[in-house]
Amino acid sequence: MAIVVSVILGSVRPGRQGIRAAKYVQKQLEALDAKVHLIDPVALDIPLFGQRFDYIPEADRSPALVDLHAKFTESDAFVVVTPEYNHTYSPVISSLLNYFYHNEFYYKVAGIASYTMGPYGGVRAAIQLRPYLGELGLVTIPKILPFPVIQALLNEDGSVQAGAAGADGLAAVSRTFFPELLWYAQAQKTARAAGTP
Ligand SMILES: Cc1cc2nc3c(=O)[nH]c(=O)nc-3n(C[C@H](O)[C@H](O)[C@H](O)COP(=O)(O)O)c2cc1C
Repeated sequence: MAIVVSVILGSVRPGRQGIRAAKYVQKQLEALDAKVHLIDPVALDIPLFGQRFDYIPEADRSPALVDLHAKFTESDAFVVVTPEYNHTYSPVISSLLNYFYHNEFYYKVAGIASYTMGPYGGVRAAIQLRPYLGELGLVTIPKILPFPVIQALLNEDGSVQAGAAGADGLAAVSRTFFPELLWYAQAQKTARAAGTP
């Protein structure tokens, strides 16, 4: 059975750059035989967080929220793709993830990908995202996947732009980030099957 990964895109802005990073992540994971759910908050059109999923009466749960719950429950791993907004991660991410508590996430792994149009690749946002994901019950892998100057690094379909200055660095980080994520996901999947504390 393939490892299932939800890739969560953290921007809903018109003309957002983040779709490039999310599609890059999707391609890399699929090349390693993972099954990917690309979670795009624009397509889902789920309102800002107002109540936990398990507190909402079943009849009042929107199909989009029910589908998201099913995808998160099925997932062995998560990659959260965040822009850096004012030196922290996007509120789109916490609005979406706060709906769920905690069984969808516990004893599972997350990787953090961040991006900016500037040179630092969103690492300040990435660092702040780690404790938040930890509180959800996710173990985060040490490696971060930053995309600096994303508009000159990736195309809209997630492919790397020809001759991009950061291409070699991105390839080097990717060679460890994705295998590490899938290693933890497989290890935890095996352990979960044997029981959880
Ligand atoms: C509200 C807001 C805050 C931002 N803050 C930062 C920041 O702290 N550091 C940075 O490098 N870029 C910052 N930027 C620029 C973003 O890196 C750039 O706009 C990027 O494209 C945002 O991702 P998105 O297009 O997918 O929404 C900010 C942009 C916005 C809209």
